[in-house]
Amino acid sequence: MILIDGKKIASEIKQEIAQEVKNIIETGKRAPHLAAILVGHDGGSETYVAYKIKDCEVVGFKSTLVRFEDDVTEEELLNKINELNNDDSLDGFIVQLPLPKHISEQKIIEAIDPKKDVDGFHPINVGRTVIGLPSFVSATPFGIIELLKRYNIETSGKNCVVIGRSNIVGRPLSVLMSQKSINATVTVAHSRTKDLKGLCKSADILVAALGSPEFVKEDMVKEGAVVIDVGTTRVKSDQTKSGWKLKGDVLFEEVADKCSYITPVPGGVGPMTRVSLLHNTLLSAKKEIYK
Ligand code: GUN
Repeated sequence: MILIDGKKIASEIKQEIAQEVKNIIETGKRAPHLAAILVGHDGGSETYVAYKIKDCEVVGFKSTLVRFEDDVTEEELLNKINELNNDDSLDGFIVQLPLPKHISEQKIIEAIDPKKDVDGFHPINVGRTVIGLPSFVSATPFGIIELLKRYNIETSGKNCVVIGRSNIVGRPLSVLMSQKSINATVTVAHSRTKDLKGLCKSADILVAALGSPEFVKEDMVKEGAVVIDVGTTRVKSDQTKSGWKLKGDVLFEEVADKCSYITPVPGGVGPMTRVSLLHNTLLSAKKEIYK
């Protein structure tokens, strides 16, 4: 069994991006620039955005944090998005989710210029991904595809089962896995799937992205399968300082020995999702998606 080291690959990608930034600056151009809009003071969102800003610093990007209080109106937020859409000094920006209930997340996502949507959430980017046009791909699907590529894992003709059909993980990943450069045969499983155990057992590549801790057990996995665990549920723990620990969707201790490759939680898919934003911002700065 080979443990897929997402932390190591993410660090390699960051070094590659940092080198590209140096090259860009040497040619006299400005550094890539990412902005993040953060509404309110949710602990999780504060942490994620702080990581995103720090990642920018590490690779040499410029970053800008735009903060609003919880009582910001939808109109105020839309005005700021319009301003950022038209700001030529900015290559991309994100609006950290979730947003307060009085604001429509879909309306906000759709207000972002697809050319600056480095989260890859805008329907234009999702649609371009589906029809195989260059697009900003959302973080987790990007991270998984990159891990498969960098570990030279054979995907062509393989049966891939994706458990979970969320808009930002399961569904886009299923599209990418079936595209011509990957060539897997994909089945998307969900809560109404019949004989889920049997289906999972037929998978050469099994992706667990349903958000249910330790859902995938040993008897659901084929000998020699590649298992990708997208789960990141925080569960209470008296063994850690923080009082919680991360659990994946796969019962790692049971499943690992059966696999040819497996991603751990933490340290597998998670670290890769953070580099995706940097990758997309660099693509935007280089005008590689929308030429
Ligand atoms: N909230 C949790 N994950 C994400 C993400 O990838 N992007 C944004 N904008 N908000 C999030």
